[in-house]
Amino acid sequence: MSSKPEQEREPLLDVQQLFVEFPRAGGGSVQAVRGINLTLYPGETVGIVGESGCGKSSAAKAILRLQENALIKGTVFFEGRDLLALSEREMNCVRGSKLGMIFQDPLTSLTPTMKIGEQIVEARRRHDPTFTRKQAEPYAIELLRKVGVPDPEVRLHHYPHMLSGGQRQRVMIALALSCRPKLLIADEPTTSLDVTIQAQILHTLKQMQREVEAAVLLITHDLGLVAQVCDRVLVMYAGLVVESADVETLFSSPGHPYTRRLLRSLPRLDQRGDTPLATIEGAPPDLSLRHLGCPFLPRCPEAMRICKEEPHLRDLASDHKIACHLGTSPSIQPPLVHQEEELLCRS
Ligand SMILES: Nc1ncnc2c1ncn2[C@@H]1O[C@H](COP(=O)(O)OP(=O)(O)OP(=O)(O)O)[C@@H](O)[C@H]1O
Ligand SMILES: [Mg+2]
Repeated sequence: MSSKPEQEREPLLDVQQLFVEFPRAGGGSVQAVRGINLTLYPGETVGIVGESGCGKSSAAKAILRLQENALIKGTVFFEGRDLLALSEREMNCVRGSKLGMIFQDPLTSLTPTMKIGEQIVEARRRHDPTFTRKQAEPYAIELLRKVGVPDPEVRLHHYPHMLSGGQRQRVMIALALSCRPKLLIADEPTTSLDVTIQAQILHTLKQMQREVEAAVLLITHDLGLVAQVCDRVLVMYAGLVVESADVETLFSSPGHPYTRRLLRSLPRLDQRGDTPLATIEGAPPDLSLRHLGCPFLPRCPEAMRICKEEPHLRDLASDHKIACHLGTSPSIQPPLVHQEEELLCRS
């Protein structure tokens, strides 16, 4: 979405060793995020992809401190301050002015008892106290128009329940943009929207990024969207980052067997007809169980005996990291017999 970041600049967001764990009432816990690192530079767009349940939303909510009933460990430096160490009051200030968020469920983010125009104006005033009442209405109308809400002059005076799901999603995007955030965390922002509105919203996002050099963390299942707008991508699996690379490298030379299979499941224009889309056999591991070795092992056709040891993220090339043993041993590793898997798992 933006020109490449100058690596000598300070990162806007620097997340180190983030763990998110949900204790269970009957004992045990779900380890949703298991020590991920993530940096974002001003103006950069970073995508997080991965199958359902791999910890993408848990990581985003932990960064924003919106995670209830969770044990969170690690550091989340934003503009040099650790968000996890701020008081709730300080955190509210950062959230309202510098951090924008768009979530999967718009109803939970909108105030049901407030007209949408008022909500947009209030968000803007929190960030910019010099913003006058006279500017308010034309501003809200313009913003609603930009995100594709029809009849913005009328919608302005409506309450959230009077809009359709897609319209509410667009209002939420308008709200997030109205505080002109330095960092926008967007979790499946365009899932419920049709493609023309998607394009319109992406255009608005790009414009905002140019104006305020905002960084965007985009969480999505849509690899096509990632290819279109992201500078860098993190692939998550079972609460871990298993690959990170710039977007061109990830799509042209994915290193992790999981990433390769994710990409093969994308529809391609040059392979139309009866060719079925590739799927990844099996399911991601249950995150309430403690696993030994590589979490992708039970589904990996390239698994080797060494995969019983957990692979750590390592450099494959400059700015390209994978957590996989492939290519690390000069000798040919015997393939793993998958019946041995139960030995690798203990509760
Ligand atoms: N509030 C919660 N309480 C208990 N467990 C939770 C909670 N939120 C998430 N989890 C669990 O944490 C794991 C990761 O969930 P998360 O929502 O982060 O996945 P995701 O990658 O965002 O999935 P999706 O693509 O479906 O949105 C899952 O096992 C989920 O059941
Ligand atoms: Mg999610």
